[in-house]
Amino acid sequence: MAAITPGTVLVLGGGSDIGAACVAALAGNGLRDVVLAARDPEAAVRTVTAALPEPTDDSPRVHGLTWDALDVGATGPLLDEVVDRWGLPDVVVVAVGLLGHHAGLGLGPAQVDEMVRTNFAGPAAALAVVAERLAAEPGTGRSIVVLSSVAGVRPRRSNFVYGSSKAGVDAFAQGLGDALAGTPVRVLVVRPGFVRSSMTEGLDPAPFATDPDTVGRAVARAVLSGRSGVVSVPGVLRPLFGVLRLLPRPWWQRVAGDR
Ligand SMILES: NC(=O)c1ccc[n+]([C@@H]2O[C@H](COP(=O)([O-])OP(=O)(O)OC[C@H]3O[C@@H](n4cnc5c(N)ncnc54)[C@H](OP(=O)(O)O)[C@@H]3O)[C@@H](O)[C@H]2O)c1
Repeated sequence: MAAITPGTVLVLGGGSDIGAACVAALAGNGLRDVVLAARDPEAAVRTVTAALPEPTDDSPRVHGLTWDALDVGATGPLLDEVVDRWGLPDVVVVAVGLLGHHAGLGLGPAQVDEMVRTNFAGPAAALAVVAERLAAEPGTGRSIVVLSSVAGVRPRRSNFVYGSSKAGVDAFAQGLGDALAGTPVRVLVVRPGFVRSSMTEGLDPAPFATDPDTVGRAVARAVLSGRSGVVSVPGVLRPLFGVLRLLPRPWWQRVAGDR
């Protein structure tokens, strides 16, 4: 596993709190340019700038570009612009996500469609474009980080729309990682548990709740060492969900409850 130097980092869903924490944790490791692709790029730049350490001469420059995950034709032109202005990204973080009102039953067809497209179809279409571009250039190491969720390992009755869409993008990213074997590109699938971020504002934290900085540090450690595959944050969730996913359905319904 060759180490990766993150000179240019592109974040799809650039206003994400976890994405911002990933950028902050990568700063100071040769990071020059951070490109935030977001529906509201100015707000994204503010979020990431606030997450970065006090500015110094070596601080990365933060740039915002307009991008919507639901526009499947947008990622090619976005990458053209990024490459022209700041070079091919060394690290691409896919941080797009929509939790909705944390429900399963009761969501209308338009809401289900929006959640599936935002969490799965849109990111998958973008990942396909990013992977082709990153793999086409020679080099030693580039990383694609996909923010999945433990919710996708075994969706609960209260969040099965979100959970199933995260399961889709998780499986897509794992297969993509296998397809990219032998290229300079590694795919890291990150499965956080409950993270206290804008997405979960107002919700009661689940057991093993964590914060964006903890996820960011875990992502930076894995990316910088050139790791690929699946990482759970916190790590205890991996063996825990390894067991929970095998629980007989009535037991799982009782354990998951309504949360
Ligand atoms: N927080 C958690 O408990 C948790 C746990 C596990 C996994 N995750 C995953 O981690 C990732 C980041 O989540 P977070 O906690 O950082 O939440 P967040 O701050 O709400 O970030 C989600 C981002 O997705 C963006 N987004 C939504 N729809 C989009 C679209 N159509 N086009 C472009 N961007 C879009 C949002 O942009 P706007 O600002 O424009 O809405 C927002 O910046 C998500 O994939 C989430 O599913 C979160």
